[in-house]
Amino acid sequence: MSNPSILILPGDGIGPEVMDEVRKIIGWFDENRGLKFDLSEGLVGGAAYDKYGTPLHDDTMVEAQQVDAVLLGAVGGPKYDDLDFSVKPERGLLRLRKEMDLFANLRPAQCFDALADFSSLKKDIVAGLDIMIVRELTSGSYFGEPRGIFEEDGERVGINTQRYTESEIDRVARSAFELARKRDSRLCSVEKANVMESGILWREVVTKIGAEDYPDVELSHMYADNCAMQLVRAPKQFDVIVTDNLFGDILSDCAAMLTGSLGMLPSASLGVPMANGRPKAMYEPVHGSAPDIAGQGKANPIACILSFAMALRYSFDQGAEATRLETAIETVLASGARTGDLLGPEGGTPISTGEMGDAIVRALGESLR
Ligand code: IPM
Ligand code: MG
Repeated sequence: MSNPSILILPGDGIGPEVMDEVRKIIGWFDENRGLKFDLSEGLVGGAAYDKYGTPLHDDTMVEAQQVDAVLLGAVGGPKYDDLDFSVKPERGLLRLRKEMDLFANLRPAQCFDALADFSSLKKDIVAGLDIMIVRELTSGSYFGEPRGIFEEDGERVGINTQRYTESEIDRVARSAFELARKRDSRLCSVEKANVMESGILWREVVTKIGAEDYPDVELSHMYADNCAMQLVRAPKQFDVIVTDNLFGDILSDCAAMLTGSLGMLPSASLGVPMANGRPKAMYEPVHGSAPDIAGQGKANPIACILSFAMALRYSFDQGAEATRLETAIETVLASGARTGDLLGPEGGTPISTGEMGDAIVRALGESLR
């Protein structure tokens, strides 16, 4: 049997440098834990545009559909700001999500003890925080038709459409209920049923699934604006949150910042199972391409490395090895090692992207002793 395959798409900005550190980690698991992967590499975003004139080449799209998992760095940068909308770096990422049908986007927000002081909130509000946002990723206002900029009564009008079918709500809700079951069995469904019909339908469908198939999971509902407020007021009240594409985009950035740094947060985007039983999957850090620090060795590789940990858990059934990697990262942080983004107001000396990767590899080595 051939090894499981991973397509690496480093992308733009700090993407390539954080991905270099993930390669070190993959190498360690190969040498020390016998986890062999067939790795291939491609271009996405601005990097693909520079070479092919499109943010995602069709051949890369085909390959993404065939591999067991895609690992993506980040896309975008000011260099591409003036490009036509249709070829902007972000379109490459959105095409991957849509064509792979990655409808369930898992965005954990966990506060590492060593970093509780770095949150913009008081330590006791975030210490021990562990929430999971499940964002619907292939529908809603990101993709709904009609969309565009049209001429109407002598002026232009910009249109996007918030649209959800019952089956789209159903499948992402089930993913969230399943996750909640493996955690603290609490699910909060978030929409704006007070002003949006799509929210009314969302609430109805989620309520029905909960009553029929997940009576053991405690289900609550919250309006998205209130959820934003509750996330900064008392985030530990949440276990799993399930919400639509746009609210999920916004709320996950908010949740991310609670943990001290955007440089820490991974994500998994999962679709339906393939013939081999593994879900279609793409793993990427929540942070962007950070063009201001790109190429300087300042970026924090942890979010991307934690994304690989999620791949071990959700695609490759290696939960124990994923935990080993997460624990190694905790150990390194507890030892005081910090990239620039993790230095609090007191400052200190940051280590480089490569030094952080090396420290995690060393901690992995120690985990075997
Ligand atoms: C995210 C990002 C993307 C989104 C952008 C880069 C298209 O903000 O993954 O949260 O809006 O979904
Ligand atoms: Mg976002």
